[in-house]
Amino acid sequence: MATVLIDGKAIATQIQLEVKGQVDKLQSQGVHPCLAVILVGNDPASRAYVGAKQEAGRQVGIRLIQHDLLEDISEPELIWLITTLNDNPEVHGILVQLPLPDHIGEHNIIAAISPQKDVDGFHPCNVGRLTAGLDTLVSCTPNAVSQLISRSGIETVGKHVVIVGRSNIVGKPLMNMLVQKARYANSTVTVCHSRTENIENFTLQADILIAAIGQARFIKADMIKPGAIVIDVGINRIEEDGKTCLVGDVDFAQAIGVASMITPVPGGVGPMTVAMLMKNVVKVATLSMPC
Ligand code: GUN
Repeated sequence: MATVLIDGKAIATQIQLEVKGQVDKLQSQGVHPCLAVILVGNDPASRAYVGAKQEAGRQVGIRLIQHDLLEDISEPELIWLITTLNDNPEVHGILVQLPLPDHIGEHNIIAAISPQKDVDGFHPCNVGRLTAGLDTLVSCTPNAVSQLISRSGIETVGKHVVIVGRSNIVGKPLMNMLVQKARYANSTVTVCHSRTENIENFTLQADILIAAIGQARFIKADMIKPGAIVIDVGINRIEEDGKTCLVGDVDFAQAIGVASMITPVPGGVGPMTVAMLMKNVVKVATLSMPC
């Protein structure tokens, strides 16, 4: 079977253009969209992700203010910074890059961010609104997957979507999006995870298989139903042939010829996630305008 590549980079470029148009319009009305990004410590992967957000902001005209904090900052100090950003009307979005050091309670930090500025969509208020099917700030990676699906014209109504991975960042919100009574949703969703027994019994039933388990090349050819659509959310750095390379949670070489469509890594979900972040900042900035 010929496998079609879903070009996340091209779709993300299109979305970035749309966002730039919205930013230009806001700026002409005196609103300057601004995102505050907090980076704690020196994790190279987190630093690289924040760098990609800076670059995306530069492309669309969103101002990004980066707060680089030392690894040993205390939880109250971090919450104090978040409170000042919550109170600053010039800051539209606040993002704390995860993971945080062990001595800081991730849930406390997320809860300290104003739900109206929570462009990551991680605050319990926004998670609850998503679950209830209300308009909200949706987390960026699930939104990226949803946009890749809709903009590629993939039908989801009545389809069996199997998500492999149950994280708060991807698996759970994606499940909540895809079961909603909505266009490009209305799916039957199964969530599998690292403790699922005989996982291939589930993945083999997927019309749309979404891999978000954080394990390099976890999904092999014999776990994919022939003709299924495969979305790979994983970004894993591995050493191979003496080089560091990025691979997804799907064994891409094996999936080619089995799947009908697939997202590559890199160039699939990754660029879309950053574009969704920019979209969320514009959403908050637009809502901040006086009526
Ligand atoms: N770390 C990995 N993914 C994300 C994300 O989407 N948002 C934040 N804040 N941190 C992350």
